Amino acid sequence: MNEKQRLESQQITSETAKKEKDYSQYFQAVYTPPSLKDAKKRGKEEIKYHKDFEIDEQFLNMGKGRKFYIRTYGCQMNEHDTEVMAGIFMELGYEPTDSVDTADVILLNTCAIRENAENKVFGELGHLKPLKLERPDLVIGVCGCMSQEESVVNRILEKHQFVDMIFGTHNIHRLPQILSEAYMSKEMVIEVWSKEGDVIENLPKIRRGNIKAWVNIMYGCDKFCTYCIVPYTRGKERSRRPEDIIQEVRQLAAHGYQEITLLGQNVNAYGKDFDDMEYRLGDLMDELRKIDIPRIRFTTSHPRDFDDHLIEVLAKKGNLVEHIHLPVQSGSSDILKIMARKYTREQFLELVRKIKIAIPDVSLSTDIIVGFPNETDEQFEETISLYREVGFETAYTFIYSPRDGTPAAKMKDNVPMEVKKARLQRLNDLVNEMSREAMRKYEGQIVEVLVEGESKNNPEVLAGYTRKNKLVNFKGPKSAIGKLVKVKIKASKTWTLDGEMLEAQEPVEVM
Ligand code: SAH
Ligand code: SF4
Ligand code: F3S
Repeated sequence: MNEKQRLESQQITSETAKKEKDYSQYFQAVYTPPSLKDAKKRGKEEIKYHKDFEIDEQFLNMGKGRKFYIRTYGCQMNEHDTEVMAGIFMELGYEPTDSVDTADVILLNTCAIRENAENKVFGELGHLKPLKLERPDLVIGVCGCMSQEESVVNRILEKHQFVDMIFGTHNIHRLPQILSEAYMSKEMVIEVWSKEGDVIENLPKIRRGNIKAWVNIMYGCDKFCTYCIVPYTRGKERSRRPEDIIQEVRQLAAHGYQEITLLGQNVNAYGKDFDDMEYRLGDLMDELRKIDIPRIRFTTSHPRDFDDHLIEVLAKKGNLVEHIHLPVQSGSSDILKIMARKYTREQFLELVRKIKIAIPDVSLSTDIIVGFPNETDEQFEETISLYREVGFETAYTFIYSPRDGTPAAKMKDNVPMEVKKARLQRLNDLVNEMSREAMRKYEGQIVEVLVEGESKNNPEVLAGYTRKNKLVNFKGPKSAIGKLVKVKIKASKTWTLDGEMLEAQEPVEVM
């Protein structure tokens, strides 16, 4: 080969390579599988705010004559994502249905937090298969946190080939494109971005109900607790701008909503990512406090970022309720250390002390993991003693579940499953006992209840929640639904209160 030929051949090779690259990029829209390795990255790249979400005209009639069904697993964040996807479906002309049998599109919005959450989804996929075989036009999609995991996508590719589309938590706004691709393509459409994430504003939403609403204040998590998959499935911490949040809450108030729950995996990190201003959760709450809406809550708090200013603002009460969900995970400083929670038992107790001084009637609830790798009996006992010492009123309790890709999953574990189960049982006994005790204090008291509707078990009875999030069942007129009423508590159970509505809503001291 002479020099000219060599150069020419090089040119051809590089041109072919270029073509190949373009070709693969063309397919990126259809096939972008997840990567936990990429999802772990936390670059300095600025967060982009996209305020101009709009559905391309070409998609607007896609849903005509079609119905959608979304099944949601996991946390409030996922529930709220479902509301956004429902909003997009409706803008595309789809109608909602509450039965898979009448649906043209079925979406499973999944959760990856523990193994049993994932098993439920795989079980459901098994149930959906016959439906797809019967109706090949049916579109079945998997989205949410499980989609962000390579192992899940691979398992679906191998064992559940009837699935038409998989998309991730960063791709929700791309639902119209993904759906359109799924209708056209014979292959499974996979679009899971593992990027650190942007903030997309102005997404449509169809909220469930018109009494309580969820409002995202931030996305993602940078805490990387060693057991947790969320920082990988939800990307880096990024806060919505306060003006967007305030405007959304104002609009909800104007539409008659009575209660707002601000959402984030770690709401106390709100604003840390703003590089143009010092503005944190306390500042946001102080502004939201002035909006004419009866109740504002937030979830979930991380003890590490819970600052004094926030406590000061919460103590002003008004529409800021006196209930704080404050996950502690363990009462042992050694376990907290290997969980990378970045606080000790003593620091947690100090935070609780400060909160109680500022808000003496505060109600605290928590999340606890038992059976973390190598947790000793003594360390578990520290969790039991901490629970009592804080006086938590309720808790979500879990047995540690190893999650692929997290540091804890690589730790050797010498705690047998029977021991973990026995610990959970003991903790749950204590949780029940403390809840019963907290509920008993309400007997004979008058509480303010936001009436949500008929009780699940008895349509003759109404049900709603107090400011401290206690479920109250009581007899009252249906006209009370959606309103705040006063209820006198007659009896208490472990998790619920029974009462009678006070007819005249005269001002009374409430608990
Ligand atoms: N962002 C929140 C919690 C999100 S997940 C926080 O930090 O508090 C909800 C709860 O699930 C956690 O608080 C924890 O108690 C539990 N959890 C998370 N990962 C888990 C795992 N691998 N095994 C068992 N429980 C887990
Ligand atoms: Fe998970 Fe920890 Fe982040 Fe909560 S703070 S979502 S437990 S990594
Ligand atoms: Fe589950 Fe994802 Fe929420 S893992 S708990 S749905 S953030």
